[in-house]
Amino acid sequence: MQILVFLSLFLISFIFPADFLYLWEPRTLQCLSKGCKLSKNADQTGLSPANCSFSGNSAENVFVECDIECDGAERDSVISKKPTVYRYCNRFFTYNTRKTSDGKWTVWRNGTCANANITMTVHCAFPL
Ligand SMILES: *[C@@H]1O[C@H](CO)[C@@H](O)[C@H](O)[C@H]1NC(C)=O
Ligand SMILES: *[C@@H]1O[C@H](CO)[C@@H](O)[C@H](O)[C@H]1NC(C)=O
Ligand SMILES: *[C@@H]1O[C@H](CO)[C@@H](O)[C@H](O)[C@H]1NC(C)=O
Repeated sequence: MQILVFLSLFLISFIFPADFLYLWEPRTLQCLSKGCKLSKNADQTGLSPANCSFSGNSAENVFVECDIECDGAERDSVISKKPTVYRYCNRFFTYNTRKTSDGKWTVWRNGTCANANITMTVHCAFPL
């Protein structure tokens, strides 16, 4: 019996080597223009003001970056956004996640996306 459990765990970790080692937690950042709220729940409840910083000195090069409170996470997932078709927010060009030098994870937005009303959901992977 034990050997079977061990064998199947071994097989599972072999088939899904990465996901097996992580605890995935959801983060939703709901932004009305530059003001964002963060939820750590899968159902997007419990929104509280996100810790955001702003840089850039003109409307064109404004840069908004919000902490998504994933300190210690090793990876992140694809980001889903709502509305999905909002064309001013394009991952890598006007928004993305970033791991800062002090181990925090942020979502940044710039250009027109920095002023958008947009909700973004990402998952952080914490090592088990
Ligand atoms: C918000 O971020 C600033 C700069 O990183 C930090 O000094 C401050 O402690 C943070 N506040 C909270 C509530 O996390
Ligand atoms: C936003 O930032 C990205 C990455 O730094 C950069 O490639 C892009 O040109 C910037 N876009 C605008 C509109 O400032
Ligand atoms: C964002 O939402 C606010 C309040 O609903 C609205 O006044 C504003 O025009 C919206 N901004 C954009 C860029 O859609």
